[in-house]
Amino acid sequence: MIVLGIETSCDDTGIAIVKDGILVCEVRATQEEIHKKFGGVVPEVASREHFRTLLPLYDVIREKFKEKIDAVAVTVGPGLPGSLSLGLCFAKTIALCEGVRIVGVNHLEAHLLACLLENRYPKFPCLGVVISGGHTEMILWSGWGVYKRIGWTVDDAIGEVIDKIGREMGISYPAGSEIERLSLSAKGEIKISKLKMEGYMMSFSGIKTAALRTFRKITSKNDYPAFALGLQNSLFSSLSSKIERVVEDYYIKEIVLGGGVAANNILKGKVAKVCRKHNLGMMVPSPKFCADNAAMVAVCGYDMILRGVSDDLSLDYKSDWKI
Ligand code: KG4
Ligand code: ZN
Repeated sequence: MIVLGIETSCDDTGIAIVKDGILVCEVRATQEEIHKKFGGVVPEVASREHFRTLLPLYDVIREKFKEKIDAVAVTVGPGLPGSLSLGLCFAKTIALCEGVRIVGVNHLEAHLLACLLENRYPKFPCLGVVISGGHTEMILWSGWGVYKRIGWTVDDAIGEVIDKIGREMGISYPAGSEIERLSLSAKGEIKISKLKMEGYMMSFSGIKTAALRTFRKITSKNDYPAFALGLQNSLFSSLSSKIERVVEDYYIKEIVLGGGVAANNILKGKVAKVCRKHNLGMMVPSPKFCADNAAMVAVCGYDMILRGVSDDLSLDYKSDWKI
């Protein structure tokens, strides 16, 4: 079965094709350069860029891969309404013209299923953790298509905090990889307080405020690496403590990470430590599949079709769709 996936939920336009669950072709257009000058994603600008790039990208991928497709999978939420609706309209047009079925994909589920692209299959029950610019969510994943949200941030997502602090530091959007790179040369660490919150829920706005206060006291750029390290340690230790709590309370065999922030080595190190302590497996996609991409949407759609999920052309987008 050949599934064409479309991702336009935020600022990346992507189209990919999977054949029997294996990625055969992928094209992407990132809008990073365009949004950099605004310091973050401007929804209207993102929609226009999707509108401008979808058709040319489709032409490129169909030039590379000419076989008839069987289905179109498209992200229908969560995400920016304008961006989602453009991707969905485009997907419907293809489904109609090619006479194939359409499936609406949840972006967070796609982040968790990204590991399938590298032939890695989770051992259930798992704890899925999506960490990105828009989400920080812990999801009990007990079988194919069976999810339960268990803990999430009530305010800023971890990637959002990193991008906001990065902006203050003069690092262009998105700041995550540059902050990680900066911290590699840290001689010491400027400590930032961690999350103090009971249960599985999270809040990162306190850490953001504490980090901003600390940063404003810094007088030399030489201290930026130690600050970058302190910021990541505070955010990622807070998250890994929450993960450990879930692992202690539930029977879990494996932890699966997804989302742009999951590419971070400090975070992966902390979660790996929890896994070693509790004798669990850990799966993280390669960095290119952690960030938003259409391959994960295509593979998620493929998995949904195998599970018997089916949509029709009345499919609508849901910008705050929960997994
Ligand atoms: O999943 P993603 O590509 O888009 C959303 O769905 O939000 O995640 C983007 C986020 C941004 O906040 C970016 O700064 C962060 O992922 N990010 C990182 C790293 N690479 C990207 N954060 C920490 N360390 C990284 N290496
Ligand atoms: Zn994402």
